[in-house]
Amino acid sequence: LTAEKYPGFTRNDQFKKLTEKDVDHFKGIVGESALIYNNEDDLAAFNTDWMNKYRGQSQLVLKPKTTQQVADILKYCNDQRIAVVPQGGNTGLVGGSIPVFDEVVLSLQSMNSIRSFDDVSGILTADAGCILEGLDNWLNEKGYMMPLDLGAKGSCHIGGNLATNAGGLRLLRYGSLHGTVLGLEVVLPDGSILDSMSTLRKDNTGYDLKQLFIGSEGTIGVITGVSILTPRRPKAVNVALLGLNSYDDVQKAFKQSRSELSEILSAFEFWDNNALQIYKKHSDAKPLMESEYPFYVLIETSGSNKDHDDEKLTSYLENMMVDEVAQDGVVAQDETQIKNIWSVREGFTEALGKEAAVYKYDISMPVPKINECLEDMRQHLKDGGVFGQPDSPIIDVVGYGHVGDGNLHLNIAANRIDKRVPELIEPYLFEWVAKQNGSISAEHGLGVAKNQFLSYSKPEGMIKMMKTIKDLLDPNAILNPYKYLPSK
Ligand code: FAD
Ligand code: MLT
Ligand code: ZN
Repeated sequence: LTAEKYPGFTRNDQFKKLTEKDVDHFKGIVGESALIYNNEDDLAAFNTDWMNKYRGQSQLVLKPKTTQQVADILKYCNDQRIAVVPQGGNTGLVGGSIPVFDEVVLSLQSMNSIRSFDDVSGILTADAGCILEGLDNWLNEKGYMMPLDLGAKGSCHIGGNLATNAGGLRLLRYGSLHGTVLGLEVVLPDGSILDSMSTLRKDNTGYDLKQLFIGSEGTIGVITGVSILTPRRPKAVNVALLGLNSYDDVQKAFKQSRSELSEILSAFEFWDNNALQIYKKHSDAKPLMESEYPFYVLIETSGSNKDHDDEKLTSYLENMMVDEVAQDGVVAQDETQIKNIWSVREGFTEALGKEAAVYKYDISMPVPKINECLEDMRQHLKDGGVFGQPDSPIIDVVGYGHVGDGNLHLNIAANRIDKRVPELIEPYLFEWVAKQNGSISAEHGLGVAKNQFLSYSKPEGMIKMMKTIKDLLDPNAILNPYKYLPSK
């Protein structure tokens, strides 16, 4: 799906088209070197998303360096009715960070300083444009770590993580950003600065307004700063990979890991053999196991005492083998092997991106339903005549994800564009998920990819209240238009 246009979207004529006078005004705010204007080559990276699926037509990118500059930009845009798209590391997977038409891109990439760190409490305050991996490396020196981790860590910003309420690989252990974030600095569309940069763990004075902005995908404010609680970096980390014969065994392994590894369990990820085949096709990495199995789980433990953790993990793995829950197991012996196992798990997104087309779904549901969902989709696509025959457009339906959080990444890879495929998947899959009381977007958000389907996961009353909040905070609807809330 290369840089497709946006079927069904019409530019909102209430938004002003940029004039030279506007550009001069912005130059006065950020300085000439902090904007890109009318230069197709330099604008391309800001107009195209990570998947190369969506493409905008913005003529202007602004890169403010201070919160006050963000405030001045938004105040002017609001007064002039100029639409704005906040952009972080541009790794989002639902087209949220890309303009749909000619919206101005407000990139946070130049706001990338660490503001403070308290090494007693582990509370970090930082600009929103700090890259997640950069923050994690900085904290490493102090014996701490970021409470979230994801495959895009080398590019995504903490501000983008907050705006999408990113989940990732260690939510199981450290919880969601709704719990670890203590405070935010947000610029509202009218240019006012909402400062709740609290460094308190406990503060029950009034509505917890910062929570509204976590997961709001740049539609009600631009996050410029964060105060976040960071955990101690564990002294001992182990990673094991299991090969299993059935999804039932995946569930048994998960249940048992919670009981036997309990407080040291820091990740429990899964993938199926279909995902492994796509990865192998695009990678020359050596196989991690001699034989192949229908399912794999990655188990990570993190603790403070290596001997204690080793003992627990060894006993758990022995039990898995004796009880024939796992058919094979590998334990990483050093840092390189840990990285090798993780790079398979983190490599599926990129491998899938190398296929001609990929239809990505990020859904949550009760853990027992996850493989049923994959199998049902495979059958549905076979019945629809687009999968399972030598000339079928669909290569495979693959599953991987944060099984410990009930979060499946269901990806459908195709060797060519065939319009029967999306018609067969949507809304079929969303209906299926809704029947399980699941979510049509577990962690990637809504953007332009899922906003029209919000009613499969939220009742009418809630959507109405969301619209009321949007109207209240952004009455001119200048922030990230056409996205997040259903427009049709
Ligand atoms: P962007 O893509 O730039 O923006 C995302 C959204 O946030 C847009 O709507 C944008 O307008 C808004 N936004 C960005 N910055 C701000 C700001 N400062 N203020 C207000 N709004 C803002 N996601 C997960 O949840 N879990 C994963 O495990 C995961 N793994 C990934 C692996 C890969 C290889 C890739 C490519 C992506 C992955 N993602 C994952 C998706 C993506 O990385 C996350 O959504 C990430 O949080 C986006 O951060 P970003 O800085 O790139 O934001
Ligand atoms: C992951 O867990 O790998 C990410 O959410 C990205 C994806 O879904 O491909
Ligand atoms: Zn994920």
